[in-house]
Amino acid sequence: MRRGLRMNCRLYNEDCFEGLSRLGDGSVDLVIADPPYGLGKDYGNDSDHLSGTAYVDFSRRWLEAVLPKLKPDASLYVFLSWQNSLEVFCLFKTRLIMLNEIIWDRRVPSMGGSTRRYSSVHDNIGFFARSRNHYFDIDSVRVPYDAATKKARSRSIFVGKKWLELGYNPKDLWSVSRLHRQDPERAEHPTQKPLELVRRMVLASCPPGGVVLDPFMGSGTTAVAAQSTGRSFAGFEINPEYFAGAAARVQPPADAGQATVAGNTRRRRAPATERLIAAD
Ligand SMILES: C[S@@+](CC[C@H](N)C(=O)[O-])C[C@H]1O[C@@H](n2cnc3c(N)ncnc32)[C@H](O)[C@@H]1O
Repeated sequence: MRRGLRMNCRLYNEDCFEGLSRLGDGSVDLVIADPPYGLGKDYGNDSDHLSGTAYVDFSRRWLEAVLPKLKPDASLYVFLSWQNSLEVFCLFKTRLIMLNEIIWDRRVPSMGGSTRRYSSVHDNIGFFARSRNHYFDIDSVRVPYDAATKKARSRSIFVGKKWLELGYNPKDLWSVSRLHRQDPERAEHPTQKPLELVRRMVLASCPPGGVVLDPFMGSGTTAVAAQSTGRSFAGFEINPEYFAGAAARVQPPADAGQATVAGNTRRRRAPATERLIAAD
């Protein structure tokens, strides 16, 4: 954790459509949104049962709710699946600049699969910016070359090249294994994303000490990524059990600062509906 930066982590057990209005306008450096994909998953609510135009309308609603919160140089990542990504990307391009489509290859093992079409083994991540002046720190996410590759690039034209020393741009195909039941990182959530993916987004697209917002927090992966890299965080999760799990994941170590729990008396659905964790 970085010293000297005042950080806090605000977790709300609340519908983001209700809670987002309480965040300050122009206060957020980075949005990482992993909404229900519209594929019928059971999140203990009916949030994943939208399809077609209803799904696009839902995407428009949350986009319009987060847009005023963004700083002028802010960015937004959205996780989607191929079933809706085309329509949602078209929609978001009317309001933001699209910088990349990142393909998350979940590294699904080859085991038979569908007999009527090709097995789908990736998620589609849209990377958007509010302006061409967006914050982006490529050096923080470069992938180091291994010794053999470095040696193979030892011809004089490569010597002293910054990219050879610092590593390469991770590109737009991210091969990171999904989390298996036995994985020590695994929490009680059906679509938990690997920390490795989300940390990369935070490091590249939020300045140290900046603010990350996750409207659909789930198990709290974005909160953990923000906290462990010295960024502040605000996030919403509608399911009280997932919220409690997320809050538990971001508990600070005993010597890392103070932890305060504040109840939200309007809607108490879990032991704590709002958790604020601050650390210097
Ligand atoms: C795809 S999951 C997020 C997973 C998360 N990225 C992780 O790594 O654990 C989407 C989550 O959004 C929550 N959700 C759905 N509608 C919501 C809403 N309107 N406000 C807040 N949370 C919502 C669901 O309960 C679910 O946990």
